Amino acid sequence: MEQLTIALSKGRIMKDTLKLLQETGIECSDIYEDSRKLIFNSTKSRIKFIIAKPFDIPTYVEYGVADLGIVGKDVIMEEKKDVYELVDLKFGFCRLVVAGPKERKGYPPHPRIASKYPRIAEEYFMQKGEQVEIIKLNGSVELAPIIGLSDKIVDIVSTGKTLKENNLKELEEIDKITARLIANRVSFRLKSKRINDLIKKINSVIEEGF
Ligand code: PRP
Repeated sequence: MEQLTIALSKGRIMKDTLKLLQETGIECSDIYEDSRKLIFNSTKSRIKFIIAKPFDIPTYVEYGVADLGIVGKDVIMEEKKDVYELVDLKFGFCRLVVAGPKERKGYPPHPRIASKYPRIAEEYFMQKGEQVEIIKLNGSVELAPIIGLSDKIVDIVSTGKTLKENNLKELEEIDKITARLIANRVSFRLKSKRINDLIKKINSVIEEGF
């Protein structure tokens, strides 16, 4: 059996990722959510796991240091790397939205938009024919409109708690997001049997309503 390297996203989708892998029959009980260890070897399954920041997963997969990766569609859309998107894993549901201060009525003609997703935000407003100024932030984006750095934000909403607790409201929905399985283009050809077997197992776990 060929060795596979799979890059997994730290954070929000890690718990469900591990659950899916376990139900697929992959031995990964050594990996736990808050571990600081970055590489795990599943000798029985002949899989090496790399644990990385979500925004770096497409890069690892594009360069082929990981054959496969599990990451949110939001990150895939933002990073636009040259990888195959193989399976919608149907977990990690959230939505990409435009949000702004709850009580605010009007906006300037060229509003400022803060986001961890500058490319998605730029494309979205360009398609709508709206001129905006994008401000790239790396996290806690909800702060920006509260302290006057931006007029609106583009961010993901899951439970809605962060928007609510910061007096923000959703203005527009850009897209619905779930976790995806991605593959390196060369690995997908060279390790096609192993990868296709894994896809079949994953699909049957998803169909059973994991
Ligand atoms: C994400 C997102 C929102 C929050 C939404 O941030 O950027 O801030 O989760 O979740 P909710 O609707 O359930 O409140 P994350 O926790 O990934 O951290 P970050 O702000 O540091 O990017």
